[in-house]
Amino acid sequence: MELKGKNALITGSGIRLGRAIALALAAEGCNLALHYHHSEEEVREVQIEADEAGVRAEIFQADLSNPEQLQQMMHAVAAAFGHIDILINNAGIYPKGKGMDTTSELLEQVFNVNLFAPLLLTRAFAQQLPEGFPGKVINISDAKVFRHQPDHFAYRLTKNGINEMTALFALELAPHITVNAIAPGIMLPLAGNEDADLQDLAERRIPLKRIGSPEIIAENVLHILHQDFMTGTVIRIDGGEWA
Ligand SMILES: NC(=O)c1ccc[n+]([C@@H]2O[C@H](COP(=O)([O-])OP(=O)(O)OC[C@H]3O[C@@H](n4cnc5c(N)ncnc54)[C@H](OP(=O)(O)O)[C@@H]3O)[C@@H](O)[C@H]2O)c1
Repeated sequence: MELKGKNALITGSGIRLGRAIALALAAEGCNLALHYHHSEEEVREVQIEADEAGVRAEIFQADLSNPEQLQQMMHAVAAAFGHIDILINNAGIYPKGKGMDTTSELLEQVFNVNLFAPLLLTRAFAQQLPEGFPGKVINISDAKVFRHQPDHFAYRLTKNGINEMTALFALELAPHITVNAIAPGIMLPLAGNEDADLQDLAERRIPLKRIGSPEIIAENVLHILHQDFMTGTVIRIDGGEWA
């Protein structure tokens, strides 16, 4: 797909991976629907950088665990842009806890944000895409689900669900819409622990001996968007950690 002039919605676009993805799309000439939940100041900075790149960028706030807010956001995006061509399901939460520690309230919250919101957004995206227009969905998953470990129980369930949903929607929405996923390994220290030095951990756990970066994920998003014969794939970008 030629990206110049296309309209892209990126969830969680104010910070970290979402921010890098949004700015990479702006550099390719995409107009941006920038979603955020709490990071208002940060998303305004992304909007300014997108303006400087010469593309249109509008900001949309929504708690994606709330289906009504999600639908209202999609209506607002459609009113502002007419339609969107690209959906990047990036927003997510990463709570700790094994299965026996995970309350039903936590399960519900994680499923709402990490799985049901991408599902509802993909459906709304497919419904709003005008007939004959190609569409692209990219889901941000996680490479850690390629190997079993009992940590982050609810999160793992949802990211496995995202991988399955990627394949199912790829089949259902073909041939006009492609649906793919990127499964990152460690790209950044955990939020709130940004100064952590992960080099030791990388030496021990990652065959390529370094962590990744948000820009690496953004490059791979662009790569997928340029592919027109690829759908239903989950690409692991993790330096070999979960191979
Ligand atoms: N960072 C990594 O190394 C890594 C590794 C593997 C997978 N991933 C995946 O990559 C994606 C981005 O992760 P990240 O580390 O860059 O970001 P992050 O620090 O986990 O931030 C999550 C993003 O999700 C949004 N969000 C959280 N709860 C929300 C809600 N209820 N409604 C709407 N938005 C909500 C936040 O918006 P606000 O900030 O506006 O509140 C934020 O932009 C996630 O899906 C994550 O699972 C990341």
